[in-house]
Amino acid sequence: MSKVGECNCVVMALLLVFLTVVVSGSSIGLNWGTMTTHQLPPEKVVQMLTDNGFDRLKLFEADERILGALTGTDIEVMLAIPNYMLKEMSEDPDYAASWVDANVTSYCYNGGVNIKYVAVGNEPFLKAYNGTYLQSTLPALRNVQQALDHAGLGSQVKCTVPFNADIYYSPDSNPVPSAGDFRPELRDPAIEIIQFLYTNNAPFVVNIYPFLSLYNNAYFPVDYAFFDGTNKPLKDGGSLYTNVFDANLDTLIWALDKSGYPDMKVLVGEVGWPTDGDKNANIQNAKRFNQGLLQHALSGNGTPARKGKIDIYLFSLIDENAKSIAPGSFERHWGLFEYDGKPKYELDLAGRQENTGLTPVEGVEYMNKRWCVLDPDAIGPDIPDSIDYACSLSDCTALGYGSSCNNLSVQGNASYAFNMYYQVYNQRSWDCDFSGLAMITEEDPSVGDCQFPVMIAHGTSVMLHGGILCLLHKIVRGFILFMFLL
Ligand SMILES: *[C@@H]1O[C@H](CO)[C@@H](O)[C@H](O)[C@H]1NC(C)=O
Ligand SMILES: *[C@@H]1O[C@H](CO)[C@@H](O)[C@H](O)[C@H]1NC(C)=O
Ligand SMILES: *[C@@H]1O[C@H](CO)[C@@H](O)[C@H](O)[C@H]1NC(C)=O
Ligand SMILES: *[C@@H]1O[C@H](CO)[C@@H](O)[C@H](O)[C@H]1NC(C)=O
Repeated sequence: MSKVGECNCVVMALLLVFLTVVVSGSSIGLNWGTMTTHQLPPEKVVQMLTDNGFDRLKLFEADERILGALTGTDIEVMLAIPNYMLKEMSEDPDYAASWVDANVTSYCYNGGVNIKYVAVGNEPFLKAYNGTYLQSTLPALRNVQQALDHAGLGSQVKCTVPFNADIYYSPDSNPVPSAGDFRPELRDPAIEIIQFLYTNNAPFVVNIYPFLSLYNNAYFPVDYAFFDGTNKPLKDGGSLYTNVFDANLDTLIWALDKSGYPDMKVLVGEVGWPTDGDKNANIQNAKRFNQGLLQHALSGNGTPARKGKIDIYLFSLIDENAKSIAPGSFERHWGLFEYDGKPKYELDLAGRQENTGLTPVEGVEYMNKRWCVLDPDAIGPDIPDSIDYACSLSDCTALGYGSSCNNLSVQGNASYAFNMYYQVYNQRSWDCDFSGLAMITEEDPSVGDCQFPVMIAHGTSVMLHGGILCLLHKIVRGFILFMFLL
């Protein structure tokens, strides 16, 4: 038995080396956020990631089920500590140590999870946080790295901090990358963190969103947000910038250069394009952006200030229907994949612009093919109130201006809202009522691009299913062990 095991290990190791050699050069990272009302079974998602050749993941929390599903794969993981933990992490080394113990050390064994980075916080210097995490980020970073060092993982797992791109800028008087620097009010804390990262051989991580440049500025040249050239390039000395992504990244490279860290390793922790919830958020633009980005990042051409491949983590894996829409309705539509794991468009992950399809999540279970819609015979003055109520507890971001369901009638809006509520609440019969305005139908009310979804099966039934499978697995394992002992 152990002989066979060893042999398998050698074959596996050779296979891994082989795969690494073949696959390296097309390494694409992905952010996996889980702010959804209905999560796909992580094991099925991980299978899909492997099928498609995604080999790096960024997680926003140490989700036990996801880490469990990643066990035994060689997918490289960046695991984040949420901002709300930063204060306690910064004040209490023991708290950092127990987090590392439970969430990193316990998975870092041979055949466990390939955790490579711990992200301490997420965009902690964002303006909207009013400096809340300014003081705690570096001490938290130190404590977590120290805990990793104590666990003997210091050389294998590196701490970093994903930053928002607006911690650096170039002045309005000279808006070119070479004039880039950190914002004066953040300069000192940012450089202290950079120094720590640099000394520890850890990368600087930054999130860059050309979509937001376009969203926030009505005069932004649309072509400049993408990668296929523009007739309004930005001239910076001898360099020409044809896309805002490069200009943004180089503003950081110049800021690092000025601070004395010209060779700091940089990863782009989030970059992507949403497909709904705004007039610029659609499938065509998302495909144009992401395909252009992949080709550019993998080409090795780099940016004017730094040659070579660009390390990116796409944002994101799957749509998140429970994400805050304070920044805009598009927030719930960043996924390369729909809520049910279907790819939204074709994407060539090797960056060769071929129309290769992505593999969907297989074996997804749905609820019954049933929708809740406005009863055409119902009349009531409360339709708008009912719509507001249903939307406030579900997701109506597709109804807004420029979105996929923006052309519905008032009645269509009501049906859409009722259905979203009904689906999010697992099609309970009493959730399709709305003071008698609503009725259940088995006829799909989708029109054109406006999809009325049926939710994926979820909750107790799925958990029960998982539980039984797990139990079966244990029984079988026990049986094998039993046989072996004989
Ligand atoms: C592990 O991480 C999760 C999610 O970030 C957190 O809720 C949990 O408290 C952590 N465990 C410990 C022991 O800190
Ligand atoms: C930051 O300040 C603004 C304005 O004072 C306030 O509305 C917002 O809630 C604050 N945000 C945080 C995270 O404290
Ligand atoms: C909505 O209708 C208008 C006018 O008929 C059309 O120009 C627009 O493309 C439609 N939008 C969507 C999202 O279908
Ligand atoms: C449907 O709802 C959307 C989003 O609230 C709104 O913009 C649109 O005007 C509504 N349509 C009608 C016909 O009332």
